[in-house]
Amino acid sequence: MIDASLARSRPITGLTSLWRSTIGKKYVMAVTGLIWFGYLIVHLWGNLKIYAGPSFLNEYGGFLRTVGEPFFGFSQLLWVARIILIPAFIIHVWAAIQLTTRDNASRPTRYSMRKNLESTFASRTMIYGGVFILLFVIYHLLDFTFGTVNPSFEDGNIYHNVIASFHQPIVVLFYVLAMIAVGLHLWHGVWSLFQTLGWNTNRTNRLLRNFATFAAVVLTIGNISIPIAVLAGFVR
Ligand code: HEM
Repeated sequence: MIDASLARSRPITGLTSLWRSTIGKKYVMAVTGLIWFGYLIVHLWGNLKIYAGPSFLNEYGGFLRTVGEPFFGFSQLLWVARIILIPAFIIHVWAAIQLTTRDNASRPTRYSMRKNLESTFASRTMIYGGVFILLFVIYHLLDFTFGTVNPSFEDGNIYHNVIASFHQPIVVLFYVLAMIAVGLHLWHGVWSLFQTLGWNTNRTNRLLRNFATFAAVVLTIGNISIPIAVLAGFVR
């Protein structure tokens, strides 16, 4: 018997049809997630310069704004990155919401027994973790980019701003929880994107899973170390 939903489905002919299909949305999530994954690696690399001292971290902040000069003007390449990152974030969240509501709508009655033996803690909490990460990013921008919630914001003095923020234990706790959420999200997200892109085969499965775990652990420990090192007085 032909599945009614399959009979109704239209062939994927363009970007709109791709976006409408479940696999298309998963592709979009994979690509936008990959963009942010790359950003997080570069961002951590930059942030770790805090251990080298104020001039290194601040110089790196300056470099982000002057890179490409004189061909590009001040902050131009930074804005190019933002113009890619901001829509990637919005589209990622948008696709996630649509996939979740579609998934719930196609399941009219709730399972009487949880049938998620295959799913991990990370996969089941993706959407809640995602909302928490969204709230974190908003706070994070108000803290270090706009300075609104930073106790002693100085424009261009990134080192000073980070130290000021992480002297507040409640903020450190929030950052640590957010970094764990980011780590879990990446762990499952990186693994899912390999599956969506069809890169996982019997031969590569183990390798890709280990890579996803390694990347998530390194990013989580690297990120968490910064607020804790500041609060503990190791970085001052
Ligand atoms: C403890 C970990 C982290 C620290 C210490 C940190 C630190 C910073 C600092 C100091 C800035 C301002 C840089 C500048 O003005 O040049 C910044 C910007 C930013 N951070 Fe983080 N960050 C951390 C984790 C994260 C995470 C996990 C995310 C994403 C989920 C993130 C996303 C961003 C974004 C989007 C910006 C704005 C970049 C821009 O447009 O200029 N950060 N971060």
